[in-house]
Amino acid sequence: MSSPAPVGYADAIDARDRLSQAGYLTDRAVATVAFLATRLGKPVLAEGPAGVGKTELAKAMATSLGAGLVRLQCYEGLDEAKALYEWNYRKQLLRIQAEADADWSATEATIFSDDYLLDRPLLTALRRDEPTLLLVDEVDKVDFEFEALLLEILSDFQVTIPEMGTVAAVRRPVVVLTSNATRELSEALKRRCLYLHLGFPEPQREAAIVARRVPEASERLAEQLVKVVASLRELELAKPPSVAETVDWARALVAIGVDTVDDPEASAALPALLKHAGDVTKAYEHLGLSSGPAGVAGEPGRN
Ligand SMILES: Nc1ncnc2c1ncn2[C@@H]1O[C@H](COP(=O)(O)OP(=O)(O)OP(=O)(O)O)[C@@H](O)[C@H]1O
Ligand SMILES: [Mg+2]
Repeated sequence: MSSPAPVGYADAIDARDRLSQAGYLTDRAVATVAFLATRLGKPVLAEGPAGVGKTELAKAMATSLGAGLVRLQCYEGLDEAKALYEWNYRKQLLRIQAEADADWSATEATIFSDDYLLDRPLLTALRRDEPTLLLVDEVDKVDFEFEALLLEILSDFQVTIPEMGTVAAVRRPVVVLTSNATRELSEALKRRCLYLHLGFPEPQREAAIVARRVPEASERLAEQLVKVVASLRELELAKPPSVAETVDWARALVAIGVDTVDDPEASAALPALLKHAGDVTKAYEHLGLSSGPAGVAGEPGRN
């Protein structure tokens, strides 16, 4: 068999169209980064506030590239055993017990072979021979030591397992890392990546996202609510509403049977949009609403 066919977009327009077919609506700049990631074989580092579509971009890239998604969810304290590989100790022990009388070097060779290895997401992504998109989600949560390990993998697309030797990628995965910028990532990691800052979309695009995600919402409602959301983002809120929350708000409005934000009932759906008591109070003032939902704006000035 010939070597695996490359996975990629023809150009930025192709990337934008295929991402759109996969449900992800984006602009030329983002689509260009997606295209370059596949053309240059470089990881994308997508950074930006919560809920602007970083993880969703990776998922849509996987769908549009026909690639399997392998996801490594990062958290503080994530280590090699959970991210890369681990020996299956229980199975190894059973084998040792079963072969108590056998020659130790033969047993040792057996228990440190593939059959006794548990692949974790990074190793899985390297060893898959089908097209793969590796999503390293929320990479800013890991510690510096782990970042160094990632660096090694993203540079060489191979890992060394002391007992087995070097495992090189069968087929290089397309890699997307996401970060909420809770801490600055190392320059070395950034250098290996294409940097993409994702912010809030323009109102027109956000309305299109709402229309796509909540087809039951009328066009007028989608346009109205993104305008309200955009004006709320201008306020000094503890947590400005993200795209995810705009979509949730639209779903909530549809669920309570409201089809214009001017409807007095519309404020009942605000809990889908704002998640801090102080923000709710500010929003009520800003929107000229008399009182908030019980227990929240009923306690003005809280938070
Ligand atoms: N460009 C877009 N096209 C379509 N849907 C989008 C887009 N951007 C955001 N969304 C919607 O917003 C939701 C939230 O996006 P996502 O989970 O990717 O955010 P995130 O940036 O990864 O947030 P977090 O930092 O909290 O993980 C998605 O499920 C999707 O419904
Ligand atoms: Mg995310």
